[in-house]
Amino acid sequence: MQENSSPRFIIVGAGARGNAYAEAVTKSTNGSIIAVADPIAFKRESLGRKYIWGSGNPTRDQTFETWKEFVQHEQHRRQKKENGESVAAGVDGVFVCTLDDTHAEIITALAPLDVHIMCEKPLATTLGDCLKIYRSLQPAVIESPPKSVFSIGHVLHYSPHNILLRKLLLEDGVIGEILSMEHTEPVGWWHFSHSYVRYVDIGNTLGDTDSPKRQLAQGVENGTVSVDEIMP
Ligand SMILES: NC(=O)c1ccc[n+]([C@@H]2O[C@H](COP(=O)([O-])OP(=O)(O)OC[C@H]3O[C@@H](n4cnc5c(N)ncnc54)[C@H](O)[C@@H]3O)[C@@H](O)[C@H]2O)c1
Repeated sequence: MQENSSPRFIIVGAGARGNAYAEAVTKSTNGSIIAVADPIAFKRESLGRKYIWGSGNPTRDQTFETWKEFVQHEQHRRQKKENGESVAAGVDGVFVCTLDDTHAEIITALAPLDVHIMCEKPLATTLGDCLKIYRSLQPAVIESPPKSVFSIGHVLHYSPHNILLRKLLLEDGVIGEILSMEHTEPVGWWHFSHSYVRYVDIGNTLGDTDSPKRQLAQGVENGTVSVDEIMP
């Protein structure tokens, strides 16, 4: 993060999740949303008016049609700074809130900028893309600590009721040793159709819908997930 400043973020993808994170950052943290990238003007402007430029007009560095435009802008801004020119402060972090199969291309392009990244789940749709992302985020010198934080939006891991549930079951052992668990996922028609358009594949649809809960169940059941691992 830049010295003496609260964290500044760009939202890439001003859809449902982009708006949810913009609201959370604005209402619940000392950070701010300073830019947005989305090819749909209405979505870009709607998020921008609400969280960035209010009723006025946006400046050139507050609004981008695509994430590629933002990356070019940031590279240019840094180049100018290196040349001793006066430039506005850049972003500290990026929320990647575009659709699943775009995450790998966006994150690997952002990686050289060393900004903090929060990517919506699922990280990617193929193992190859997950590995590409992993490699792109490795520091140049492996032993050196990373300069930035990379995270995935598995928000249920951090929800207060699940944190409490894990503590009660794993740490306090309130019901003794767990022998088996049964988890029922109440997927409504609207969630199914929402997930279906993302994947066009029923197997993946159920897999994604279920994934955070399945991880929770597996972790609690076999004891491989601790509260510390999930909340470092
Ligand atoms: N909505 C949910 O409840 C939910 C829950 C969990 C995870 N997710 C995940 O969050 C991500 C976003 O989902 P959503 O529901 O917000 O989708 P959405 O369709 O509402 O928003 C995606 C936005 O990305 C924009 N976009 C497309 N190409 C772009 C580009 N090149 N540069 C910048 N923006 C671009 C689109 O115009 C759109 O506004 C997906 O990976 C999804 O699987 C969503």
